[in-house]
Amino acid sequence: MKNVRHLIEPSDLTNDEILTLVNLGIEMEDNPKKYADLCKGKILGSLFFEPSTRTKFSFDSAMLRLGGSLMGFTDANTTSAKKGESLGDTIKVMGSYTDIIVMRHPKEGAPKLASEYSTIPVINGGDGGHQHPTQTLTDLITITKYKNTIENHTIAFCGDLKFGRTVHSLIKTLARFNTKKFYLISPKELRLPEFIIDKIKSKYDVEIEEITQLEDAMDKIDILYMTRIQKERFFNEEDYLKLKNSYILTNDKIKNAKDDMIIMHPLPRVNEISPEIDTNKRAIYFEQARLGVYVRMALIAKLLGEI
Ligand code: NCD
Repeated sequence: MKNVRHLIEPSDLTNDEILTLVNLGIEMEDNPKKYADLCKGKILGSLFFEPSTRTKFSFDSAMLRLGGSLMGFTDANTTSAKKGESLGDTIKVMGSYTDIIVMRHPKEGAPKLASEYSTIPVINGGDGGHQHPTQTLTDLITITKYKNTIENHTIAFCGDLKFGRTVHSLIKTLARFNTKKFYLISPKELRLPEFIIDKIKSKYDVEIEEITQLEDAMDKIDILYMTRIQKERFFNEEDYLKLKNSYILTNDKIKNAKDDMIIMHPLPRVNEISPEIDTNKRAIYFEQARLGVYVRMALIAKLLGEI
């Protein structure tokens, strides 16, 4: 078990490993034929205890494009979890049916627990409001393609910074790469947890400014990372309804934006980005979703030791 590598949170990867995965992803996108049989005979176990579109299907697509196969579920009610089987037992068995596991779970820490029982690599495909490391890799390949480097940008995170796991993973990772400044834009109820801010400030020399109005930062940012208000993580419907339309990006709101500013979103969006933005040249979120396939190909190949 000792030599098995897992990806539970971005800190499981060094900066060099992250850059290698991003560059390998770009290379795989450019030369798909070269990698088409790389994982032939290998099986991806895809265990989704919580809904997903992009993470689930981009992993499936990644494995198929590497020549591998897949099995799994998107509804844990069809599995023995429903009969009361422990996660540890499920994982132990899946380890003899598959070669690598991607797992999404509503409980924070579940993929970490799974990795402790697993004899094969476990990838966290999102755990509750905690972490989402492969979305971070997706975001980083996108930033690299559009901005040439992941260093030295001014980045605004906007929306649900409290429950949004994509933000938690990405901000901690970007802090490791000389980010110039972070703007944190949220209603006060959905601020980025204090412990994350403290951790970043104690380790890195990066400016962090918290504001509530998106327009106040618009002309200063290189990357705008919009997020969905995480309805499923609220304790009551009333609070969600109060906050759900906190930010709605329209053409009018971005009129002062830099010409080469990029607008990202992990998707799914609800109504935080008006569809009129989709045709704006700054909107790259569908490309971002597409690029996720290639960086996940790179990750699978690396964790399986095929490259
Ligand atoms: C995100 C997630 O699941 O955290 N989606 C994704 O994986 N691209 C974002 C979200 O659900 O808001």
